[in-house]
Amino acid sequence: MSKKIDVKVSIIFKRIMSAAATTLVNVGGARSGKSYATAQFLIMKALNEKGLNIGITRKTMPALKMTNYRLITDLLGKYGLYKPSCHNRSEHYYILNGSRLQFFSLDDPEKIKSSEFNYIWMEEATEFAYNDYLVLLTRLSAPAAKGGNRIYLTLNPTDANCWIAKNLLGRKDVEVIHSSYKDNPFLSNEYVNTLLSLKDYDTNAYNVFALGQWGSSDKIIYKNWQYAQEEPQNPQDVIWGLDFGFNNPSALVRICIKDNIFTAAEYLYQTGLTTQDLTEKLVQIISPQERTQTIYADAAEPDRIAQIARAGFNIKPADKAVSNGIMAVKAAKLFITKTSVNLIKEIQNYCWKTDLNGNVLEDPVKFNDHALDALRYALYTRGIESASCGDAEVSFI
Ligand SMILES: Nc1ncnc2c1ncn2[C@@H]1O[C@H](COP(=O)(O)OP(=O)(O)O)[C@@H](O)[C@H]1O
Ligand SMILES: [Mg+2]
Repeated sequence: MSKKIDVKVSIIFKRIMSAAATTLVNVGGARSGKSYATAQFLIMKALNEKGLNIGITRKTMPALKMTNYRLITDLLGKYGLYKPSCHNRSEHYYILNGSRLQFFSLDDPEKIKSSEFNYIWMEEATEFAYNDYLVLLTRLSAPAAKGGNRIYLTLNPTDANCWIAKNLLGRKDVEVIHSSYKDNPFLSNEYVNTLLSLKDYDTNAYNVFALGQWGSSDKIIYKNWQYAQEEPQNPQDVIWGLDFGFNNPSALVRICIKDNIFTAAEYLYQTGLTTQDLTEKLVQIISPQERTQTIYADAAEPDRIAQIARAGFNIKPADKAVSNGIMAVKAAKLFITKTSVNLIKEIQNYCWKTDLNGNVLEDPVKFNDHALDALRYALYTRGIESASCGDAEVSFI
């Protein structure tokens, strides 16, 4: 006999259920429950109707795998529905009750031009371009599902000038759900307090991430970066940046330098690591031949630096000057590998503080900046070192 499972849903789920427009923009603060509700909703749809084609997408495959792809397979597991035989891992689809959940990235919109869907979910929709949305809209061409085919966008309202705000809001065929942490009864008090504490740091970040209101991208600090497919072959130099955390994640970033281009890749982003755990991770990540490469680490924790140095790593305290460090990162020709999901999420949202009148201040908001701190430590400290000591051998005779 099959086990009966009652699934708890939030108000967002109910609003998704009652939405009637072709496009549903689900916009809200951090962790308001947008992704979870959308994942639950699509699972429910597949369970209620056979033969559906459901497309689940995010701009890049590594990010998709770490977020909505994983969320859906985890929920299927939690609900006792997951069967490995229904999961085609190489083609990235799952057959649920005769419906197909197809996971795809839109690195190349051409790839999707022959597929037909009933429902499409664009996760972190601000990462896509307007044209991606238009292409996906043409793909809602499968024979209509009960109630009609639909496209669902989930996003944080970081930029009031993004294509979603400018081109979709206010249209008749677009419905909007606004949400904030208040709509998610499943959050811990600790996380809610973290969000509320943003108010003391920065009004824009508080409005966007806590209240789910549209913010401004004038405040985004780093716009000087592009995606890299992978790290370059034969770099001229390799350095590492390390930010220590415990409740916050410890973050390790590797930077390959070649022809004045800095390619950053995230190697570790994990909470709950003691110094001992972190050292063990470094042993796994950094091969014995690479251990002469410098790791620039958070200078506020000399004990942790000393302990890691004793394990055979070339680790040094970084120069933590924030403004100068940010300027150094802004001046770099910076690429970030597609697999660096947390680093990319941080850099897309890292903002200057604003004062009560909305003026932008020269001070960053200390929120989701762990991998970015690691990047800054390495880039800036190495920059100072190479400026202060050249290679020339000078003798006064
Ligand atoms: N219906 C639910 N049941 C259990 N937990 C939930 C539910 N909805 C949200 N959550 C919890 O809230 C967290 C944040 O939700 P999520 O959908 O990831 O937020 P958002 O996408 O808005 O940032 C989830 O990781 C999960 O722990
Ligand atoms: Mg989400």
